[in-house]
Amino acid sequence: AYERLWLVASMVLIVGFIVTITYGTVGLGITMVDDREETISPDDVDEDDRFQDPRVEQVGENEFEAYVVSMTFLFQPDPIEIPANNEVTFYVTSRDVIHSFTVVGTNTNTMVIPGEVSAMTVEFDEPGEYGVVCNEYCGPGHHDMEGSLIVH
Ligand code: CUA
Repeated sequence: AYERLWLVASMVLIVGFIVTITYGTVGLGITMVDDREETISPDDVDEDDRFQDPRVEQVGENEFEAYVVSMTFLFQPDPIEIPANNEVTFYVTSRDVIHSFTVVGTNTNTMVIPGEVSAMTVEFDEPGEYGVVCNEYCGPGHHDMEGSLIVH
């Protein structure tokens, strides 16, 4: 009888997790479309066309790409400005040590590793200003490492 109880309890937990994850995605008006990684040599960050001039670029009718560089202790560009209701792929790399690229209050969150480009495609449905923070300890300025993302 206890076994059945545990089974039911774990089912409830799993459903609970799914609901939480779904709410985290849908509830905030953000859709995670894709999430992947590629490699880049840290020495090439300044030579890579995308990262020598960190920016947001329109690449299709409803598609944008944001090239973001993390470094001690800031993000470039700052602010990152994107339009609402469009797919935005963030390509994020680090110029020095491990950081994170975390958009506060959303599930847009990735570790930023020197030598790697983290890519994630998201869609913001809610205009507003979002904080961008780093939540990987990266040195004495870690707690002040912040930027902003403006969805308009
Ligand atoms: Cu960058 Cu902590």
